[in-house]
Amino acid sequence: MNSKNLEDKIKKLKEKEKAMILAHNYQRPEVQLIADFIGDSLDLARTSAKADAELIVFAGVNFMAEMAAMLNPEKTVVIPDPEARCPMAAQLPATTVREAKKKYPDAAVVLYVNTLAEAKAESDVACTSANSPQVVNALDEDTVLFGPDRNLAWFVQRRSDKHIIPLPENGYCYVHKMFTPADISLLKERYPDAEVLAHPECDPEVQQLATHICSTSQMLVRAKASPAKRFIIATEIGLVERLRREFPTKEFIPALETAICEQMKKHTLEKVYLALRDKKNVVRVPPRVAKRARVTIERMLEISGRAARD
Ligand code: 13P
Ligand code: SF4
Repeated sequence: MNSKNLEDKIKKLKEKEKAMILAHNYQRPEVQLIADFIGDSLDLARTSAKADAELIVFAGVNFMAEMAAMLNPEKTVVIPDPEARCPMAAQLPATTVREAKKKYPDAAVVLYVNTLAEAKAESDVACTSANSPQVVNALDEDTVLFGPDRNLAWFVQRRSDKHIIPLPENGYCYVHKMFTPADISLLKERYPDAEVLAHPECDPEVQQLATHICSTSQMLVRAKASPAKRFIIATEIGLVERLRREFPTKEFIPALETAICEQMKKHTLEKVYLALRDKKNVVRVPPRVAKRARVTIERMLEISGRAARD
């Protein structure tokens, strides 16, 4: 089936099933283009929480689809390819969180949304790359166990007086680890007029070379608002493709062409179609886990919403 046929079939099925397709900014361009909504983790959690649909097709990695399922217990959430699993989320098992809580009984536990539901269920509040300092600074505790991304923990520590303890010690995203300060410096020399937008999952040495450190959707906001005409982008390539599509008069230079998240790219148009047609790969979180993990996401949305209103 060619992609035009597939797109038509997906559109018809979407209407018939009262479905909504949500896609993360790193999805393949053709998947982004068929989606009803494209965003970062925070946008996707917010949008799924108020989704007016009976079926949600979630084109993102597993922890994102789990969040949508937990926020929508009465709806069916399907993931086109169940193998789209974020390796960073797997770096923090719930047992590690439980052990750390015993060691630091007075600490708050803040977990990046890039964690599995079982780990979230052991935490106090979730956060995303778009709101992590806000969430941490809204807490009463002075010590915060923060995981799994060590680079995001470093980013938060620079914006908070609290004592941040990374959990595990060296959690990382293999895609954002690919960016090096040498590559960024070279690009900055070649394009001195460019702004450098880097994701907080990048190493500290890369973050220190950035003009702005942003979540993926915050990069879109910055690219639109900035007077600059050129940007060096240090995050996954899918976001660069979206930036080029949405701001054709500006130039976006990937900090590394090969920064590709294989797990995000597992979803194809064909798999989106099959998920819709067969309601395949329903995302299920055990109710006992979902009940506790949902509270941490709702608390994050509440803190984030409050900060946006202030
Ligand atoms: P964003 O929430 O900034 O889109 O980040 C999600 C992610 O997985 C980055 O690697
Ligand atoms: Fe996980 Fe990194 Fe892929 Fe984001 S880019 S989903 S953190 S592996």
